[in-house]
Formats: sequence, structure tokens, C-alpha cells
Amino acid sequence: MMNTAGKKKVFVTRLIPGAALEYLQESCECRFFERENEPVPQAVLLKEVADAAGLYCMLSDRIDAAVIDAAPHLKVISTMAVGFDHIDVAAAARRKITVTHTPGVLTETTADLAFALIMATSRRLIEANRAIYNGQWKTWAPLFMAGRDIHGAALGIIGLGRIGQAMVRRARGFGMRVCYYSRQRREEAEAEGVSYLPLDDLLQYSDFISLHVPATAETSQLISTREFNMMKPTAVLINTARGSVVDEEALFAALVSGQIRAAGLDVFAEEPVNLEHPLLHLPNVVALPHIGSASVETRNKMAIIAAEDMVAVLAGHPPQFPVK
Ligand code: DGY
Repeated sequence: MMNTAGKKKVFVTRLIPGAALEYLQESCECRFFERENEPVPQAVLLKEVADAAGLYCMLSDRIDAAVIDAAPHLKVISTMAVGFDHIDVAAAARRKITVTHTPGVLTETTADLAFALIMATSRRLIEANRAIYNGQWKTWAPLFMAGRDIHGAALGIIGLGRIGQAMVRRARGFGMRVCYYSRQRREEAEAEGVSYLPLDDLLQYSDFISLHVPATAETSQLISTREFNMMKPTAVLINTARGSVVDEEALFAALVSGQIRAAGLDVFAEEPVNLEHPLLHLPNVVALPHIGSASVETRNKMAIIAAEDMVAVLAGHPPQFPVK
């Protein structure tokens, strides 16, 4: 039996990769919600945090003021994600609870996926794959499953943080023209030929518009009817950020009316997305189940970083990645 004497209690909301789990167990008394693919019910979460000093969570767990109030001994919340919009950070700060996350480590993996969505939407990969199995492939035909070129196209990046900058590197390799819109001007990127455009200009100019902003009050429904109306009819929207950044009803209308050509979506306003969601039934939508950072290497690293910061804070040391 594991010796738990003197160890701090930690609740982990999902089964996590082995190395991270072992690391946590060396210095903490861990309880788990022992499912890999199922969210912890809120009632279980409220009960489990009652005596916990640490809460190790996922981006799909809602860590609101009620959870924080139910955890009088809580010292640290470590989320295995870069985004922390699922945590009431203000409520945690009032209780002097440290919140940590996993920035940096998932940058390249998430940009890979955003670029994969550019490729899948522009070259109609999913539709074309289905066409084989639907028996639509009768012969080679000049415009059968013809998409649009990526090389030479204009990529508009909204939010030029770490992942946005990783998109610039990929776009260069594909010979794209790249512009960005961000609250903060990025002179280093501009010096390397990435042009800054005000949001409306970027929307009008870009062939692909890729979102890389966090979910905040300011970015909520940043892309809605007004914005779709400015886009080219050939434009493609890529969202690997958060569902709340896009007005999904307006997106549906824009896709159906031909106001824009396609969308690649890894995130939705409500996750998991309901199978009846109208966006899932459009041929010009490529939908993925929030797998931006889902490579084995990256998910293992995220799990370890969250475990390290949990252990550090519980031992009275500063974490590597506090939420700021
Ligand atoms: C995050 O960590 O916030 C990402 O959305 C995971 O893919």
C-alpha cells in the first residue's frame, strides 16, 4: 500500500498519462476520477475538493466560484491546458489560490492542427474521402473535388501570440502572404514581412482567417454577422482557439448563403458539440473534437508540466507557469 503519511491531498479530474501520475503520487496523496474519456460530474467534483490542497483539472472542467468555495483547503489549481477560461481566476485570487497552466509546450502541435484544417478545408479532404465511399468517384473529371490553392493565398491571423507566430512559420513554407491583427503590435513579425492590418481590413483581404485569441469578454463573438459580411465569398474561417470567439449562428448563415466558402473548426461554443448541431451537417465544414494539442508527445508534456507545478506550489515553491 502507498505511504500517504504527511502527503498533501490532490484531486485529479481524469486519468492522466503514467509519468505525470507517478510524479504526482511521489509527493501527493492523489484521488482520481478514474475515467479517461468522461468528464467528472460537477457533484462529484464539489465533493472531492472538500479536503483537497490541490486540484488537477482539464479544460472541460468548470472550476467556478462554487467549486472554489467547496474547497476550503485548496492552495493550487493546475490545469492541463494553456487556456484557463474554464477557471474563475478572480475567485481563486480572492482565496490566494495559485492557478497554473501549460503555455508554450503545445504551440507547435496546435499550429500543426490549425494548418491541417487549412489544408483539409481548401482541398476538401474530408468531402473527397467521403466521395470515394459514397460511390461519387466515377472517373477523373476536370473539376471533380476541386478546391482552392493554399500557395499564394493570403492568411490573416487574428491574435499573434505563440500559436499565431507558429502559423506564420508554417505559412511561409507554403508561400502564403501573411497579415495579422492583434491588440498588441508585433514589430519583430512586421520586420520579417508579416503586415499588420486593422481587423476589418484583414477580414476583407484574407483568403484564410485563423483565430488564435484567448476566450475573454473582449473576444466573445468577435466574429459575427458584421465580420462575415466583410469576408470574401472564397474565404475560409479556421478556429482552433475557443468556440465563444465565433457566433455560430452567423457562421452557419454565412456558410449556407455562400458569404464564405468553408470553415475548419476544432472548437465549439458547447463541447462536446451536439450531434444535431447544424454546422456538423454542412459539407463545407471540417469539424474536429478539440484536438489542437492532441499529439502523444505534447499531451504527455502538458500532463507533466501541470504535475510539476502542482507539486512545486504545494511544497511552497513558485510554479513555472502561473496564470497571469
Ligand atoms: C488548450 O490547452 O487550451 C488547448 O485548447 C488544448 O487543445
